[in-house]
This record gives sequence, C-alpha cells and structure tokens, in this order.
Amino acid sequence: MNDPLLQPFSLKHLTFRNRLMSTAHEPAYTEDGLPKDRYRLYHAEKAKGGIGLTMIGGSSVVAPDSPQAFGNILLYKEEVVGWLRELADDVHEHGAAVMIQITHLGRRTSWSKADWLPVLAPSGVREQAHRAFPKAMEDWDIRRVVAAYADAAERVKAGGLDGIEIECYGHLIDQFWSPATNLRDDDYGGVLDNRMRFGFEVLRAIRDRVGSDFVVGARLVCDEDWDKGLSRDAGTLIAQRLASSGLIDFVNVIRGHIDTDAALSEVIPAMGSRSAPHLDFAGDIRTATRLPTFHAARIQDVATARHAIESGKLDMVGMTRAHMADPHIARKIIEGREAEIRPCVGMAYCIDSIYGGQALCIHNAATGREATMPHIVTPSTGPRRKVVVIGAGPGGLEAARVASARGHEVVLFEAADKAGGQVLVTAGLKRRREILGIVDWRLAQCERHGVELRFNTYAEAADVLAETPDVVVVATGGIPNTGFLSAGEDLVTTSWDILTGSARLGSQILLYDDNGAHPGMTAGEFMARAGASLEIVTPERIVAPDVGGTSYPAYFRAFADHDVTLTLNLRLDSVRRDGNRLVATFIDDYGRRTVEKSADQIVVEHGTVPLDELYFALKPLSRNLGEVDHTALLSDRPQDVATNPEGAFKLWRIGDAVASRNIHAAVYDALRLVKDI
Ligand SMILES: Cc1cc2nc3c(=O)[nH]c(=O)nc-3n(C[C@H](O)[C@H](O)[C@H](O)COP(=O)(O)O)c2cc1C
Ligand code: SF4
Repeated sequence: MNDPLLQPFSLKHLTFRNRLMSTAHEPAYTEDGLPKDRYRLYHAEKAKGGIGLTMIGGSSVVAPDSPQAFGNILLYKEEVVGWLRELADDVHEHGAAVMIQITHLGRRTSWSKADWLPVLAPSGVREQAHRAFPKAMEDWDIRRVVAAYADAAERVKAGGLDGIEIECYGHLIDQFWSPATNLRDDDYGGVLDNRMRFGFEVLRAIRDRVGSDFVVGARLVCDEDWDKGLSRDAGTLIAQRLASSGLIDFVNVIRGHIDTDAALSEVIPAMGSRSAPHLDFAGDIRTATRLPTFHAARIQDVATARHAIESGKLDMVGMTRAHMADPHIARKIIEGREAEIRPCVGMAYCIDSIYGGQALCIHNAATGREATMPHIVTPSTGPRRKVVVIGAGPGGLEAARVASARGHEVVLFEAADKAGGQVLVTAGLKRRREILGIVDWRLAQCERHGVELRFNTYAEAADVLAETPDVVVVATGGIPNTGFLSAGEDLVTTSWDILTGSARLGSQILLYDDNGAHPGMTAGEFMARAGASLEIVTPERIVAPDVGGTSYPAYFRAFADHDVTLTLNLRLDSVRRDGNRLVATFIDDYGRRTVEKSADQIVVEHGTVPLDELYFALKPLSRNLGEVDHTALLSDRPQDVATNPEGAFKLWRIGDAVASRNIHAAVYDALRLVKDI
C-alpha cells in the first residue's frame, strides 16, 4: 500500500507503523487519579484499530500543587507505575506506540479540588476559565516543581511507555513564556531568555533523569494569537531554541491561547469551524525547526489527514476526536473500508463533558465503555430474530444498525419521508449541519446490513404485529413540550417550528429556554442570524447550563454579533394576546417579582413530551410488558424478563420516547439493549 498515511515513521529508535495518532486528551476515565482498566481498554481499542501512536494522559500532573482539573492522571503517585505498565503492555501487544503528556497546570486549575495547596503561576494573574487567583512562585516552588517533573518522567520510563510529551501551552511552562502571564522582574521574567529559563530547567532535569535515548517532545504554542501573548515570531523562536538545544525529539504544534472558553474553542474547534485551521501553520513550524512534527486540530476526515502527510506539513497527524468517534480508522483504511468510518461530527460532547463528568462521544456509546460495549458488533450465534424498530431518529437507527449487524432481520418504520428525527431539526441551523453525519452513517450501515426501511409510514400496533416480531424497539421520540404553561399554550411557537421553517419568524422575538441545552441555543442563533430582535429568557442563573465550554462560545458570538439580550432568573408562567402582540408573564423563583414582557412572537424550548402511544398499545401484548431489567442491564447481561409468558415479543422503549434527553442517551439505550439479541 502506498497510502502516505500508512507509511511507517521512525523517531529515534521507535518506529510508528503509520502516521495516525491520537494526541493527548484527558477523558476523565481515571480512578483515584490512576489509569486503571477503563483507561487501558480505551487506548488498547485504538491500538486494535491500527493507530500508530496514542498519546495518553492529557495533562498528567506532576505535583500535588497541580491538582486535577478534569480527572488528570496523578503522576506524582508511585503506584501509577504499575498501571502505566499494564496499559503500555496492552497497547504494545496490539502494535501501537504509546506516550504520555505530562504537565504542571500552574494557574489552570483550582485550589479547592484536592489538597488545598495554593495554585501556582509565574505571577499572580488569574486565569478566567479556572478562576483561581494564583500565588506567584517563589524560588523554592520553582525548585520543587522542576524536581517533580523529573520524578514524573522517571515514573513514565519505569512504566514502559515509549516517550513523554511536555505540555507547553496555557500551562505552567507557557505561563512563564507568555508576556500575558509572566510579569516577573527576576531571572525568570523580562527578556525571552529569562522567560524560557524555567522551561529549560524542566527539560534539562527530565533529560538528566531519563537519558538521551528516551523520546521527549513538547506540545508547544508557537503563536498565542493574542495581543497580550506570544506573537508568531516569538513562538517560532521558542520552538527553534528548543530544537537547537537538542533536548527535544519532536514538536506538537499548537496555535492559540486557552485561558477562556472562547479562546479554547479556537484551539479545539467544534462543528461549523473550518477544517484543519492550523495545519499550514504547523507545516511552517516543521520547516522552521526541522523536527518531527505532530499536530491536531479538526483534521477529521481521512482525505485531509492524508493531505497533511503527503504535503509534508506533518510527520504524524493527530485525529483525536476522530478516534473517539471511531477507534478503528487505520484498520478500515487498510481494509479499503474508509467509507465505513464513523465520522466525528465535531459536536464536542466529548470535551465538553470532562469537567465533572467523563468524555463521551455523542454518537459512539462504546467509547470509554470498552469493557462492556462493542465498537465492532459481531453476528449473533443464536437464532435469527425478526426485529421491528419504530422511529428513524438516532436511537431507532442505532437499534436497527446493531440488530442488523447481529444478523437479524430488521424492519424500520418511520413516519416522515426521511430519517433523522430531531437531528433534522438541529440541522436547520446551517452552522450545525454536520450533525447529519450521525444519521447518514447509520443509514449507510443499515442499508449495508439489509435493514428494510419503510418511510412515510406512521406505524400503528397492527402494522407492528403484522410483522410477527420477536423484538420491538419503540424509538418514536417526542414532541415539543408546551404543556408547562398555565395559559396561552396555543399562542406560543416552538423551537422546532423555528428551525424547521414551519413558523414565519416575527421581528421582535422572545425565546424562553427552560431546557438549558443545545436546542434552545440553536433556535436562538437561528433567529438572531435571521435578523430578529431577540431576547432570550431563562429561569436558570446562567444561560444554557448544559451546553459545554467549547460549544457555547459559537452561540454567544452570534448573540453578540446580533445584539441579543440575555435575561436570567425568570420563569415563564403564561402567555396572553394583547392586540396584535403577545404578552408573557414571568415570575421568579424567589417570589419577589412578576414581570411582563411583550413581543410579536414567543418561542419556547422546554424539552419534549414522549410520543408513547404505540408503546402503551403494544405493552400488554409483549412478553416483558415493556419492562427493562436494570440489574441485568447494568451488569451487562441479556434481558430476560418474561412477566407475560403469553406475549410473543420483547418490547423496549428508548430515547426521547421515554423522556426528553439527548442523542447519546438514545444511542446508548439502543446499543446496550440490542447488542445482546
Ligand atoms: C476530551 C478531550 C480532552 C483533551 N485534553 C487535552 C489535554 O489534556 N492536553 C492537550 O494537550 N490537549 C487536550 N485535548 C486536545 C486534543 O489533544 C486535540 O488537540 C484536540 O482534540 C483537537 O484535535 P482533533 O480535532 O483531532 O480532536 C483534549 C481533547 C479532548 C477531546
Ligand atoms: S462527541 Fe462529537 S466531537 Fe467528540 S468525538 Fe464524538 S462526534 Fe467527535
């Protein structure tokens, strides 16, 4: 094969089997700060899928005064070595190389998370995103942290990993480099030589400890793209100095700063941003440093990745979220099945959920659940079943995909003339159209496995029974919930009406969002861009609390561009007509205010009400009376409820047909029930 992506690459004594890598990212899968089985299986899956190099442990921390910000690996714990070794052995066994990113987060964390040590930084400049007021480091802090880096590096080497990447953007080393965060007037501040002193001390200490043979590289910012920060010239100079020091073996290029959510969303661009925005820049750094160069930023498809290598811009191409969506990219390329790669649609659910949660892919429920959920659905060894699925939204399509991949005969009913359900509603906003990939990939898989798709069919119980099914999956979704209003339900427009174009837009609109997730924001952006004068009102104390850190900036940019008013803490009670206007009455949760607002259109977003008629019609006829055995479900055993032995089929209800949730909930419902039939 002469595919540029599949050519091996040599770095010192290492040979990567191809040019595909997953760059460092902390999925928050650690347990007690250690990369235990879940972490290992997650990376081993990528190795099984053929990746060349996986960089584990995004921002693994070297010292207790760099407490976890998002589940980071604690490299200062001695017991980490054994877990690293198990992980490295597993990944190596499947033919991939494995390294780890190490860091001291400096000011990019919180003092109240773990040991209540003060957060450190070169100077007392607060980071907006993590909000700690840091202590300016003293000489003894610097000595301690430099030693901690070296100790951590030694543990990594003892753990059998192939190398280390030092995180140098937005974290402590870059906080010393950057004029935005280093206001010191001692030997560590002022001119660039001084600002680079701390980083060089760290690098030398690491080299002294791991020796010259071990691979050590830097993921560094070569342009902070920020008036207060490192310019492109200064960043390039830093990269060149690191290269000529002989202390590092590779560069992994970053462009941008990460001290605010808005800035981070440019470094890790989400759906709607252009493809590979910093690739040319990374190529320039490769030319300037002549070091092996890695880079990742929205290189999601194989063609762009191939171009990055073929054009000589990169030596290793990072497809990080792409591997979260599908860890088997290399294998599918090798097998000529590129079209079957599950696409990363840039939804950013993965990164948005690491604070206080875990990285989950919006449409791959097996990611991070490798112990129980399959990335590759294998054919059943049992009897071939007849499976009827009702509803071709993400949940229904997932149920049909999995059942058909198991080798069962599947009929999928859909009332509309095409598949997609609520995904089609979201795609009404052009910026988010990429979300359709969730539907298109599943449809293609269903077609490949012979699912019989019956569109324009509003299935009744009789239609389902006529198929004499063994299993019925009701994935009928929901409809917009307006029933919470005490009066005026008939006067309001829903976010769906707006996004599907079924309602004409008013010119002065009030959007009431009491869902707090993407649907309200998506409708809001749509209306703002369409030129409406818009006020968004929420009963919450922040707007859209369920929209994560790298996703909300795109909405807020649109709101700023179009002068949208945001109002907090008001709960919509009722709507009434007043001439040709509508009047909304709000109350607050504190019993202090009743507020009336007038508009020519009032749009509400309050989640969905389940469309569950069909389910309840089928329930008495089913063998399990619709029941899901949660104990079996959670211990990964097949469903075997038979409360009604006369019933001819098993019946499950999934996704929003159960309750208003999200795409991940729907596809996870489907995968975990259907994978065992
Ligand atoms: C869940 C998640 C966590 C991340 N954490 C880190 C991190 O700790 N350190 C780091 O350098 N980059 C981190 N990243 C950024 C990725 O390494 C990568 O640069 C980014 O996802 C853009 O590449 P992609 O478009 O191929 O996904 C993270 C990304 C994700 C999705
Ligand atoms: S959640 Fe979205 S951005 Fe993250 S891997 Fe999945 S599809 Fe890609």
